[in-house]
This record gives sequence, C-alpha cells and structure tokens, in this order.
Amino acid sequence: DLLDQINRLEELFTVPTDKLKAITDHFVSELTKGLTEEGGSIPMNPTWCMGFPDGYETGTFLALDMGGTNLRVCEITLTEEKGEFDIIQSKYKMPEELKTGTADELWGYVADCLQQFIEYHHGDEELDQLPLGFTFSYPATQDYIDHGVLQRWTKGFDIDGVEGQDVVPPFEAALAERGVPIKLTALINDTTGTLIASAYTDTEMKIGCIFGTGCNAAYMENCGSIPKLAHMKLDPDHPMAINCEWGAFDNEHQVLPRTPYDIIIDKESPRPGQQAFEKMLAGLYLGEIFRLVLLDLHQNPDCKIFEGQDVGLLDKPYSLDASFLSAIEEDPFENLSETHDLFQNKLGIKATKPELELSHRLAVLIGTRAARLSACGVAAICKKKGWDKAHVGADGSVFNKYPHFKVRGAQALKEILGWPAGKGKGRGDPVEILPAEDGSGVGAALIAALTLKRVQEGN
Ligand code: BG6
Ligand code: GLC
Repeated sequence: DLLDQINRLEELFTVPTDKLKAITDHFVSELTKGLTEEGGSIPMNPTWCMGFPDGYETGTFLALDMGGTNLRVCEITLTEEKGEFDIIQSKYKMPEELKTGTADELWGYVADCLQQFIEYHHGDEELDQLPLGFTFSYPATQDYIDHGVLQRWTKGFDIDGVEGQDVVPPFEAALAERGVPIKLTALINDTTGTLIASAYTDTEMKIGCIFGTGCNAAYMENCGSIPKLAHMKLDPDHPMAINCEWGAFDNEHQVLPRTPYDIIIDKESPRPGQQAFEKMLAGLYLGEIFRLVLLDLHQNPDCKIFEGQDVGLLDKPYSLDASFLSAIEEDPFENLSETHDLFQNKLGIKATKPELELSHRLAVLIGTRAARLSACGVAAICKKKGWDKAHVGADGSVFNKYPHFKVRGAQALKEILGWPAGKGKGRGDPVEILPAEDGSGVGAALIAALTLKRVQEGN
C-alpha cells in the first residue's frame, strides 16, 4: 500500500551522514585525479583566469550569458571607485527548439540578440570594438582564455557539429556577418564568473558554485598543483581558476546511491553515461525524477495511485519542472490545497489526500537529496585544499528559489565536515554558502578586464 511505498522511497532517496562522507572522500580523489595527465571523469578545466580582481579594474565591457534558461546581454562599466560598477541589461528567451537545432541557428540567434542590444542602447553611435566576456556554461577545453573547444553538451543541449570544435570562430563569424562591433576577450564558465564576481566584494570567497539547471563549481588552484599543465612551466605559486565540471562526478557509478529513476533519466537523456552527479540533483532533472516516481507508482499493481485517471500529461517526459516541486514543498502539509490545484491544473489529475501527502513527502525527499549531495562537492573542494574556513558564492535557480535548499545544504556540510552545532541555518558556519554577486554580468566583465590587463602587461 501507500505507506509501504513511502517507506521504500525514503530508503531509496535518503543519504545518511556516513554515505555523504564516503561520497565526499571519493570526490576529493576524483578532483585530484582530474588535475593529472591521465585525468578522470571530472574534467577540472584550467580556465586561464589567473587571479582575483583587486577592486580597481576599470572600463566598459559587454557580457553575454548563455546558461541554458535565459540569454542575457549586459553592458558593465567598472568605475574608478573601488568595487563599484554600473550595469544595463536585457534578457532574451532561449527558445527551446534552439537547444536541439543547428549550430548556425544557435550562433545566428545569439548574434541577433547582441545586435539588438547594441542597436537599442547605442543607436547610430560610432562604436569602437567593444570587449566581450562570454559566459558559455558548458565544459570547454581552453588553451587560451579567448577560445574554447566544447567537450560535450550538457543540460539537455544537443546541437550537432559543435562538440569537439572551438566555439569562438563560428560565434565571431555570426557577429561579423551582421557587422556587430564586438571583440570576444574572454570565454568563461558561469562558475568562474560567480567565483570572481563574489571575490570582488568578499575576500573570503574561495569557491563559486551554480545550483541551477545544471550544477558545478570553480575554485582557485595554484599552478603547481595542476600536473597536467606541468609542461607549460608556469609559476607554481601562480593562481589559476579551475572549472571542475563536477556534474560528471562518478560517471563510473562507484559511490552515488542511484535509484532506478536516476538510471532511466540517464538512459533517456541525449548523453547517456554523462553527468551522473548532475542528473541526480540539478534543477533540470528534479521534476523529471518526481514524474518518473509517480508514473511508476501509478503503474504499480500494488498501489496504483491516480487509479482510473487519465495520466496522459504525467506520461510526457520533462512535463514537470523544479518549480512544480518548489510549489509542493511550500504548500503546508496539513492542507495541500495548492498541491491539489497544481495536479488538477497542470496534469488534469484529481489527487486524493493520501496521494497528495505522498507527493509532498516525495518532493521533500528529492529536494533534500539534491541539497545534501551538492554539499559533498563543496566539502570535497574544501578538504582537498585543506580549507577549514571558506565563503562559497552560489547562484542559480535551485539555490535562489528552491525552498529549504540552503538550510539543508548547510546541515549536510556540518555533518560531513563535522563542526559543532552552530548558530542555526548555517549562518556563521566555518564553511558558509552565500548568495553570489552576478557572475555572468560583473564576473564576466571583471575577467575580461583582468585579461586585457594581463595582455597589456605582456603576461
Ligand atoms: C544566473 C547566472 O544567475 O544563474 C548565470 O547569472 C548562471 O551565469 C545561472 O548560468 C544558472 O542558473 P539557472 O537556474 O539559470 O541554470
Ligand atoms: C553544467 C555545465 C557547466 C555549468 C553548469 C551550471 O554542469 O556543464 O559548465 O557550469 O551546468 O550552469
């Protein structure tokens, strides 16, 4: 019956402290392995972002953010005042069909948005080439900061002819075709942008994280600890931001407690076998995990939820997103009238009280697992670097909007890293995850500014 099912789900989705610790330990060794010649499943991509800003960067920069959900263009002016900047920005929708369309359509659309932005804000002004920081939030191999070979699409993107290629030439060609006066100065990841933007205002910042459609982190390594760059004879003490691409953690399925539902998600995705960690906890997948469990329970002869109802809408892959779960989690358990309406309006299902309660419990289990697993990545970087104190800057829809995500993450960090009961809710904890400054806006501008400075100084 339903109670048995709830117990089974609790068992499947709960990650106890010991397991969190075991995952973290394996994570530490995988981070280290990713920095070696042989590599591993976590790419640990050198970003050529080689230092923190000092707050005195100046200049006007464009920033383009192509993260997955939105496409955003910003113009940022870093002013003479330490740490101060002005920003104007426009958001464009990233059409769903673009994610599985052609490369020409993608770069054409992105270039059109930039062109529109410039025409709107600068009209007929004669412009010099504007330097651009492009936040391209996918794994890229970089030999320089203004190039990047896409390793593989993540977050459900599937556009032929881009993987294995440098993304900058086709992007610049689309701009040139339209006569848009822009020069790409830096290609960055959203996590690197988050790290740098957050460090601009907080010198304790050591890690930048995204908990959004995808999940990933960047931190500052010292070049001497990156064996795969040894041949370049870089100053061993020089800092270099590493984009971990930790979504790929445990692609070998050695430690993560995958459920049958996680296995289906992976199999049905455009890139099976990739992003094992991300698929268990990132925003793109939370609603899908929930949907798969409910569908399974509907088809299970022992419990048959939503019996006799048309589940056509529930049967549609990715028909529920993380905001569906957020809304359920926010609805008080004693009442669940919002949840009732959601099921009715979104799925055409009239759920009974026990079915609503089960759905609530399930949302809590999925949301809690996501926050707790995320904490393993943060704890692993801290352990690897021997940091017993750190600020972590975090951004993304799950971090910003998913109920209780922050508190659950802080609780898990405490369990893994083992500090005594703190002031509650994670505030003031030795390792503290804080809302980040705008990484793909001001972070991208700062990295572009730092790059130009480095070029001028001939480094
Ligand atoms: C935004 C950042 O706030 O969060 C982007 O500016 C980042 O750089 C994004 O990619 C991630 O969140 P989501 O939820 O849109 O994937
Ligand atoms: C995916 C991408 C990664 C990005 C993350 C968050 O994991 O591969 O580059 O940082 O999503 O947007």
